[in-house]
Order: sequence, then C-alpha cells, then structure tokens
Amino acid sequence: MNKYLLWFIGVTMISFILNVSDIFTYKRNINMCKDIMNHSKPHSTIEMPKPLTGMWTVNTVGRLGNLMGEYATLYSLAKLNGRQAYILPNMHSQLAKIFRIKLPVIHQDIFDRIKWRKFVLHDWMSEEYRHIEGEYVYFSGTPCSFTFYHHLKEEILQEFTFHDLIKEESYEYLNNVRGDKKNVTFVGVHVRRGDYLTVMPNVWKGVVADKGYLKKAMDYFRNKYENPQFIVTSNGMDWCKQNINNSFGDVHFAGDGKERSPSRDFALLAHCNHTIMTIGTFGIWASYLAGGETIYLTNYTLPDSPFLKVFKYEAAFPPEWIGIPADLSPLLNKEKPK
Ligand SMILES: *[C@@H]1O[C@H](CO)[C@@H](O)[C@H](O)[C@H]1NC(C)=O
Ligand SMILES: *[C@@H]1O[C@H](CO)[C@@H](O)[C@H](O)[C@H]1NC(C)=O
Ligand SMILES: *[C@@H]1O[C@H](CO)[C@@H](O)[C@H](O)[C@H]1NC(C)=O
Ligand SMILES: *[C@@H]1O[C@H](CO)[C@@H](O)[C@H](O)[C@H]1NC(C)=O
Ligand SMILES: *[C@@H]1O[C@H](CO)[C@@H](O)[C@H](O)[C@H]1NC(C)=O
Repeated sequence: MNKYLLWFIGVTMISFILNVSDIFTYKRNINMCKDIMNHSKPHSTIEMPKPLTGMWTVNTVGRLGNLMGEYATLYSLAKLNGRQAYILPNMHSQLAKIFRIKLPVIHQDIFDRIKWRKFVLHDWMSEEYRHIEGEYVYFSGTPCSFTFYHHLKEEILQEFTFHDLIKEESYEYLNNVRGDKKNVTFVGVHVRRGDYLTVMPNVWKGVVADKGYLKKAMDYFRNKYENPQFIVTSNGMDWCKQNINNSFGDVHFAGDGKERSPSRDFALLAHCNHTIMTIGTFGIWASYLAGGETIYLTNYTLPDSPFLKVFKYEAAFPPEWIGIPADLSPLLNKEKPK
C-alpha cells in the first residue's frame, strides 16, 4: 500500500479520535455552563422563604417569669401564623438586660399610631390560635404554658441565652459550692413566697409550698444522686433558713431575693442540673431553662378555686416533670365552721 495513503489514514483516525474526545469535552462543558446558569438565575423552582408580614406584639405585664411567657408565646403564635413578631420597648429593656433576645422592637411612636386588633389569650394553646387574622395584632394576657412553644423549644432556649457576664457569675458561684467535692449534682430550689402568701389563700383558695413539700422534694434528689447540693433562692429567705433543715450541710442559701433585679437568682437556678420549684412562672422558667429533672407543687388549690378557670395544671407543667400534691389541710381546717 502506498505509504502516503497509510499516513493519510493514520492522521485521519487520530484526528477523528481527538475530535470525538473534544466533542465529549465540549458537551460536558456546555452541561456545566447550563448547570451553573440554572443555579445562578433566580427561577421559580427554588423556594424562597416567604417574607413575614404584619406586626404582632404582646403586652408587657408582670415580672420576669410573666414576661418570658409573653415573649415565648408571641414568638410561637406569630411564627405559626406567618407574621413578624415585635416586642415593646419596655419588654425589651427588661429582658435584654439578661438574655440575648432577637425579636425586633417597635418604637413607642409607631405603636401608638397603629390601630391594633386586640386579642386576649388564655393560658394554654388552642386550635383557634393557629388561624388568627390580622396584620396588626396585640395580644394581652399572661400566658405561661409550654403548650404554646414546646415544639420550638430549641429556638426558645436560644432566645433566652444568658449574657456571658451573667453566665460566668453563676458558674463562679457553683464552682465555689463544688470546691473539692466529687461528683456534685446541683439542684436549684426556688421558694416563691412574698405576695403569694396572701394572694393564694385569699384570692385563689390555695396554698403555697410548706416545709413538708420541700423535704420530700429534696429527699428525692438525696436518694437519687451521690452528692446533691441545693442552691436555694427565694423572695422569703428568712422563712427558708428557718424551715429548710440543713443538718446534712448540702443546702446553700444563695439567692439575694431582689425581685426588681432577679437576673442573678434566675441565672443561678437555670445553671443548676435539676430544679425544685414551688409555684409561679419564675420557677417554671428556671426549670425549663435548667432542663434535667423538675419537681413541682401540684393540686395546690381547692376544687372550687377560681384559679382553675384561668389556669390548667396540665398546661403549666410538662408531663415529664414530677408533681407532688400540696397539703391542703390548712385551707380545709379554715373552711370548717367553728
Ligand atoms: C436546567 O433546568 C431545566 C429546567 O428546570 C432542566 O430541564 C434542565 O435539565 C436543567 N439543566 C441542567 C444541566 O441541570
Ligand atoms: C456520680 O454519681 C452518680 C449518681 O449521682 C452515679 O451514678 C455515678 O456512678 C457517680 N460517678 C462516679 C464517678 O462516682
Ligand atoms: C434535721 O434533719 C436531721 C437528719 O434527718 C434530723 O436528725 C433532725 O431532727 C432534723 N431537725 C429538725 C429541726 O427537723
Ligand atoms: C451540672 O451543672 C454544672 C453547672 O452548670 C455543669 O458544669 C455540669 O456539666 C452539669 N452536669 C451534668 C451531668 O449535666
Ligand atoms: C391532682 O388532682 C387531680 C384531680 O383531683 C388528680 O387526678 C391528680 O392525680 C392529682 N395529682 C397528683 C400528682 O396527685
């Protein structure tokens, strides 16, 4: 065969092979370009989160525990209904002193100019709260129930993250309590007294926690953990010192009981491993933030108490918490005709 012909066939084949691989490369590049273009151009198949509309807010009523309940309930209901939640300056100034909360604040002037739809909340979640109408909704009430926001627990705990300074003060106190003790378990004890001493029996036909309750609750932890240390905070510290038996030396009367600047006491409780609470939203929130086991006082009102119209035990205390029923005998004895 003519060597030129052979040479020609060889060159043609080589160039054919090169061309084929070029074609493949070319096709691959085209696909890559399309792919990049597909991703770079805004098109309908990529879901953009719908911007939240409206302005929803909540009243600022009560002290720390109530404010936290109001904040968390607003947060959750606004999110369920696809609305933007805002808080009022007064709520912000109280909660932001303690926590790294993130909801935006409405300026008071704007608040005053808006025609709000007023919406009264009761103290537990209802089906109807999933479908609340209105651009501008102003919630009132003092809701404090996990039933509103337990499904968002992680987000709520994120909102109630302490400022580092406050967190470090708590750790410093607890580390001093620990000293060189081994395997310590911290149990926060919140003893709510103050106004409740008169409000519970006179308004609500109920009782506050007594020393028997506290002993039962503390013995639960003494039996369960090797080295429990009880960190007691209260707005009635003198009563606590007289009524909590410290013969084991495991009780620390830690709280300063300052109701107007509760952050230190609250943070101490929240940084313990477990909680003994008595009554009130302060204790409920400290327990919720601490996680771990919670013992609470339950059934602390008479069956005909008006309290039961505005409050449901089962909506206030998550099912995994441990309730110890109150001793109602002081009330029953009082009601007996003399
Ligand atoms: C680009 O998007 C169109 C339409 O969504 C699709 O048909 C095509 O396969 C995509 N191309 C690539 C390279 O992903
Ligand atoms: C620490 O105490 C817990 C109970 O409080 C016990 O289960 C555990 O074994 C103890 N750990 C050590 C290292 O002693
Ligand atoms: C305190 O507790 C100890 C140990 O259980 C007991 O011996 C003592 O009697 C108690 N004191 C009072 C005043 O109840
Ligand atoms: C108990 O609480 C202390 C103080 O917040 C913390 O350092 C420790 O890790 C906790 N222990 C457990 C088992 O969670
Ligand atoms: C509280 O009272 C209710 C109704 O009387 C009862 O069903 C419940 O078991 C009580 N709770 C506890 C912890 O004793």
